[in-house]
Amino acid sequence: MAYDPNSQSNLDEVKTSHIHLNLAVDFVAKTLAGSAELDIEAIADSVSKLILDTSFITIHSVTLNGAPLKYTLADRHEKYGSALTIELGKTLAKGDKAKVTISYATTEECTACQWLEPSQTVGKKHPYLFTQCQAIHARSMVPCQDSPSIKLTYSANINAPLRAVMSAVPTGEEKQANGTTTYKFHQKTRMPSYLIALAVGNLEGREIGPRSTVWTEPEVIEAAAWEFVDTESFIRTGEELLTPYDWGRYDLLVLPASFPYGGMENPCLTFVTPSLLAGDRSLVDVVAHEIAHSWMGNLVTTENWEHFWLNEGFTVFVERKILGRMQGKEHAEFSAIIGHKAMVESVEIYGKDHPFTALRPCLRGEDPDDAFSSIPYEKGFNLLYYLEKHLGGPEVFEPYVRAHVQEFAGRSINTDDWKAFLYSFMEKNFGQEKVDLLNKVDWEAWLAGTGMPPVDNKFDDTLAKACNCLCKKWDHSRTVEKPTEFSPKDIEEFSPTQKVVFLERVSELDSLPHSHLELMDQTYGLTQVRNAEIKFRWHMICLKANYEKMYPEVAEFASTMGRMKFCRSLLRALYLAKNGAELARATFKKHRAFYHPIAATMIAKDLGLAK
Ligand code: BES
Ligand code: ZN
Repeated sequence: MAYDPNSQSNLDEVKTSHIHLNLAVDFVAKTLAGSAELDIEAIADSVSKLILDTSFITIHSVTLNGAPLKYTLADRHEKYGSALTIELGKTLAKGDKAKVTISYATTEECTACQWLEPSQTVGKKHPYLFTQCQAIHARSMVPCQDSPSIKLTYSANINAPLRAVMSAVPTGEEKQANGTTTYKFHQKTRMPSYLIALAVGNLEGREIGPRSTVWTEPEVIEAAAWEFVDTESFIRTGEELLTPYDWGRYDLLVLPASFPYGGMENPCLTFVTPSLLAGDRSLVDVVAHEIAHSWMGNLVTTENWEHFWLNEGFTVFVERKILGRMQGKEHAEFSAIIGHKAMVESVEIYGKDHPFTALRPCLRGEDPDDAFSSIPYEKGFNLLYYLEKHLGGPEVFEPYVRAHVQEFAGRSINTDDWKAFLYSFMEKNFGQEKVDLLNKVDWEAWLAGTGMPPVDNKFDDTLAKACNCLCKKWDHSRTVEKPTEFSPKDIEEFSPTQKVVFLERVSELDSLPHSHLELMDQTYGLTQVRNAEIKFRWHMICLKANYEKMYPEVAEFASTMGRMKFCRSLLRALYLAKNGAELARATFKKHRAFYHPIAATMIAKDLGLAK
């Protein structure tokens, strides 16, 4: 039976099979208002109530086949919101179905929605709304069983003054007399509530593949269409590795700068940060990642947020398989080297004994956003990478990964389900020899152990060699006051990713003298780079060295880039840097409205400003 410590719904009694949304988008009131119709089914006998998750939602009425139902909205649980208990007015036996309609509106405190003023968009003329529901924010947008153990289809009629797009297939548009339009959507594949997504704004679409359109504000459509040309080949590679793509469309939406993540795998319509528009196609691995979620996470879903690694670790594993096939193995391994560094940093930030550094943490009483880090991604990836090698390589493991998708598509699973199928697949297809190998794995250390993984995988460092070498040169030059051996040629042949890795290696050194940092900047033009991944590493080096001259640049970047990987890390590092704390706090306070509510909450905690 489904266990979910982060939902207040009666998941053991009822499941939702479909939600139909009828919502009006009001940019003046900054609300979504209308109704949600839930098709529910009793999964136990004598079910007399339905408990839904809600957060900062106003309930107007609840009805069953048009007749009003009694309901109570509980006091708010600090992290999980207000449980909405609906008396069904009758008892349902196992298998009985009912349709419950909730009339409601979101409020100003909605954590899923960000309502942007025209000034916060690229075009500056129209307002913009977008949502981010993962992990537990869907409940602030729709009253629902907000648990990934529940898989449902959905449909929606969204009435809006500007174009609306959703994580579903568009099925029609109807112009209304008042000048607004009703946009209709249908999602036919069962998915968890955290994948409900909506964006409304001045959007233009451009076809970039046989099943793909990229949506953006008109000002950046050209750049986006250019950057993401490889989308279809990523999808095809995913299909070759796994199973046919199940979701019909794979569109992309490039959001305004305040989007808090790099990408979000909303089905049929991946949301991405505009910071991917580097002009060199070097950051499209994020798209490969979100495409990999079409199988890992969206079809095979974690049962609750304690097994989040099943979504992200598997997705990173498939992402790197896709990269490996398209760009060569050394690129995939290079990506694993970068991932390893991100994991080391996350373990350092939490501390190596912190429960959130375990692959399968306990989240009872916790907010999943607090447990979010590179650890489920990279420890999960490292476990699968290790298992692949240990069990005999891709010929053994790739068929297994495909079978895993076939076995669990459409379902929500936990780590025990995963492990049981791994054992049974290996036994059935390869016999006792592989089972013996599996029995040698230190499962306890991998799954429950904190800190770094128990096995230190070695990755091909072909592409890292030149980065390490240049870093050593800088390290050795530190005793010379004015080194003369460096020139722009040093990095001329470097790919953008190699520049990132060079800077990561430098950031691991004891800080170089400020005069050296100035020389590095002059030689390589680091402060001027547009590529956000490179800029970010450069800023982190400067902060570690307490290089105050760069603080204003950091504040500028962190207040115009809402992707938490960048703004949150930079503000936290600025806060900890010498004489940086005040500037970090002042920057955040001044630009608070720029950040998505999720990012604002996390940054406030980091800077000791939380209520
Ligand atoms: N699903 C995640 C984003 C997410 C996770 C949002 C948890 C909310 C809660 C998405 O697929 C993701 O992993 N994005 C990464 C991409 C990267 C690993 C290539 C990101 O945003 O940086
Ligand atoms: Zn992901």
